[in-house]
Amino acid sequence: MKARIIGTGSYVPSKVLANSDLEKMVETTDEWIVTRTGMRERRIADASECTSDMGFQAALKALEKAELSAESIDLILVATLTPDFMFPSTACLIQSKLKASKAAAVDIQAACTGYIYGLAIAKAFVESGMYRNILLIASEKLSSIVNYKDRNTCVLFGDGASACIISSDRQKPGYLIRDISLGSDGDQSKLLILPAGGSRMPASQDTVSSNLHYLHMEGKDVFKHAVRRMESSSKECLDKVGLVEGDISWLIPHQANVRIIEAIAKRFEVPMERVFLTIEKYGNTSASSLGIALDELIAQKEIKSGENLLLTAFGAGLTWGSSILTKEQGHGD
Ligand code: ACO
Repeated sequence: MKARIIGTGSYVPSKVLANSDLEKMVETTDEWIVTRTGMRERRIADASECTSDMGFQAALKALEKAELSAESIDLILVATLTPDFMFPSTACLIQSKLKASKAAAVDIQAACTGYIYGLAIAKAFVESGMYRNILLIASEKLSSIVNYKDRNTCVLFGDGASACIISSDRQKPGYLIRDISLGSDGDQSKLLILPAGGSRMPASQDTVSSNLHYLHMEGKDVFKHAVRRMESSSKECLDKVGLVEGDISWLIPHQANVRIIEAIAKRFEVPMERVFLTIEKYGNTSASSLGIALDELIAQKEIKSGENLLLTAFGAGLTWGSSILTKEQGHGD
């Protein structure tokens, strides 16, 4: 029994926050943002649009592409660090919106690596025979935890969602999940953190006035870990499936900083024309970023049977992971 991605979807809110808008909010310039990050715009959800709403929209598209009804979903996984509520889970909220009455539902939290952790969990469930069809959603409303007075972080993040269906169905064309490498290093947990609002520091007047409900990041340190970890897990994953760099048709990295992506592409000798980027228009959408890029790649490029895609991501935790997908025809073709 092999797990394959048989449909993808994505959704971004319509409101655009351009570098020129940020110039009016903090002391920054379009030139600094473009040269230091590769970002020009990001999307921002309005007050009425939450993580579950965006995830629901992405899920509808993935179900449509996979030609499946919500009724045929056995499990809904939602990767997010910006859930609608601490509890109930965002997965349960989306299960209700979809009327996926037969589905179990649970959130997973691996920050920007959430999509790859989700793929790994879904692959294990499908290949064990426990579930046939799993809906993985990654959705983030990062604008709800970003301090728009802090130029170090507010230029980096945007909102959006992605989804895919992981299935044991071999009739439809899809992307075989060849293997996945995951890792973590909790010793570095303070490099990227939302300090308050959990059991360690419950919400109080003090936590609010000290800005502790916003994301905090040591950007320079995170940068170094990101390059090193995405490189090592990609290498580990290639070794596991017996492929080399030259066998990769497309590199789809987490979209955190174009300089991080260029460093990884250089180490893997993948030309930048073979690296799929959405960073310019969406910025860093955390867990959703990989899935949005994968969905747009599949929509825009003609991926042939036998072509390999390398996915790699890195995020708070620290967490990291890579996966190799191979395009396959369906047995029904
Ligand atoms: N505009 C203008 N100047 C700025 C801005 C800004 N928006 N932001 C920072 N600066 C300034 C800094 O204050 C600093 O000034 P100083 O030298 O006077 O102190 C200077 O620019 C250089 O700052 P650095 O932090 O050294 O800039 P760097 O080149 O490292 O870029 C960045 C910062 C973009 C944050 C980068 O370090 C980065 O991308 N880090 C990794 C982020 C990442 O990978 N996150 C992934 C996980 S995200 C998740 O899990 C939710």
